[in-house]
Amino acid sequence: MKKLNSLFGIAVVCLSLASCSSKLMNPSQSQLDGLNNPEISMSDLEAGKEIYKNQCNLCHGYYDPASYTADSWKKIVPAMSQKVNEKVGSEVIDGVKEYQLLNYILAVKN
Ligand code: HEC
Repeated sequence: MKKLNSLFGIAVVCLSLASCSSKLMNPSQSQLDGLNNPEISMSDLEAGKEIYKNQCNLCHGYYDPASYTADSWKKIVPAMSQKVNEKVGSEVIDGVKEYQLLNYILAVKN
């Protein structure tokens, strides 16, 4: 029984690791195309991913982009970017970075 429990524990850890990495997935060309936004390039999406990875787990774990609608993210990203800037004590997420972050989330959420 003890052995079964530890096997179960390992399975749970693996599952949660798999879901963590999917939340931080690399943007693909088809996700970029899906945005249908000529202002946004692949390097913007990659920059957005770095911001998400570095700043968005300072207070809580990573939220799955797929968990919220695009309209919700358009409100959450500015509010949370402000929280990041307050916590860090400087404008680590300026207007351009906020836009990159939002578009990264919108690209990978579907
Ligand atoms: C200074 C701490 C802090 C940082 C940094 C932070 N958050 Fe949050 N976040 C919170 C708190 C506190 C809540 C829950 C209460 C709230 O909504 O204010 C929250 C809630 C959320 C929620 C759930 C919102 C909802 O309506 O249920 C999402 C999604 C989220 N954060 C995303 C992010 C993203 C993306 C970033 C990076 C830009 C980020 N957070 C950075 C503190 C933070």
